[in-house]
Amino acid sequence: MRLATPSGFATEVFLLEGPDRELLPEGAWTLVGDLRLREAWVGAGMPEPDHALWVAVPEEEKKLRTVIPWLEHWASVPLHRDATVVALGGGVLTDLAGLAASLYLRGVAWQVWPTTLLAMADAALGGKTGADLSAGKNLVGAFHSPRRLVACTDLLASLPERHLDNGRWELIKTALILGEMAWALEMLQEGPVKIAWVERALAFKAGVVHRDPREAGERRLLNLGHTLGHALEAASGYRLLHGEAVGLGLLGSCLLAEEQGLKPFPPGFLEPLARRLVPLIPLIAPWPDCLPLLARDKKATHAAGTEIQCILPRSGEPAVQRALPPQAWESPHARLLSLLHQETVRA
Ligand SMILES: NC(=O)c1ccc[n+]([C@@H]2O[C@H](COP(=O)([O-])OP(=O)(O)OC[C@H]3O[C@@H](n4cnc5c(N)ncnc54)[C@H](O)[C@@H]3O)[C@@H](O)[C@H]2O)c1
Repeated sequence: MRLATPSGFATEVFLLEGPDRELLPEGAWTLVGDLRLREAWVGAGMPEPDHALWVAVPEEEKKLRTVIPWLEHWASVPLHRDATVVALGGGVLTDLAGLAASLYLRGVAWQVWPTTLLAMADAALGGKTGADLSAGKNLVGAFHSPRRLVACTDLLASLPERHLDNGRWELIKTALILGEMAWALEMLQEGPVKIAWVERALAFKAGVVHRDPREAGERRLLNLGHTLGHALEAASGYRLLHGEAVGLGLLGSCLLAEEQGLKPFPPGFLEPLARRLVPLIPLIAPWPDCLPLLARDKKATHAAGTEIQCILPRSGEPAVQRALPPQAWESPHARLLSLLHQETVRA
């Protein structure tokens, strides 16, 4: 099924069960694929182009040094400027392959075939590509939209449970940005992820990134949960997965919003949200470890980093943006921990 996207949107978006070779590029193409997916790809009757690269890239290797051998490989083939790169994998691989496609010959076309729930629901759409620097995540990158996004849900069959839960947080984030409490609550329950949720999240994100491709305004809303989330993720030494950190960041944002005088969230929402996060308690860094990371947030608005752009959700209403000092997160961080401990006692 091809999803409806705004007119003139840079990426055609497909949500399918199994992979379809008809959606591969028509002309010359090559592949950078996650080695874990090779069997499933070939097993589904999908072709392996000459000079395909099958790689295993852990989050710690989301670095510029990882893409240099890919670029050298393409130049030695050689891959010409009319060729298309197909990226098959999770967000780490697709962010890097998109970055490599943006760099090679100053930019060749690419397609993204996301294989994790997180990449399907979020990372693969919107044209942000990138790599990490020692100072922080995604500090280098380019906006380079893929021509086509093909999400094949059958490929999720091999994805470990923890990564399915991880991707679910980006879906819950979408519901909270919209203020759609019933949808958010539905996703907080146990039970399998529904394809309709992914479809809805993709359609929402396509609209936002189309209106604000360079994150000058509205697109910042997609960072809901990411300010505290990124700090917790880094402070855990990346033992927290990205989506898990976003989940903690979402709860923190609900508490911060309330402290900022916005409409409070009812216990009937905060409790199930906290319950889902309880297993992450051992990975939550203490406040003093988070503060310096918040202060150097990529989205800091002022030169001295005195204020950071925070996205605040509201129960039943769309989220809003507010510039706040990093210290504003201290109390939500403490309350978040205490809510999670309360849920442990209840369980
Ligand atoms: N570009 C963006 O807008 C954007 C948005 C959100 C997140 N991201 C980035 O996404 C990255 C996280 O992506 P992720 O959560 O997909 O993690 P990931 O890419 O590390 O994949 C998770 C693990 O699952 C494996 N895997 C992938 N697909 C599989 C499958 N179908 N079956 C079995 N195993 C599979 C991978 O090999 C890896 O070990 C982060 O680096 C984050 O910065 C980017």
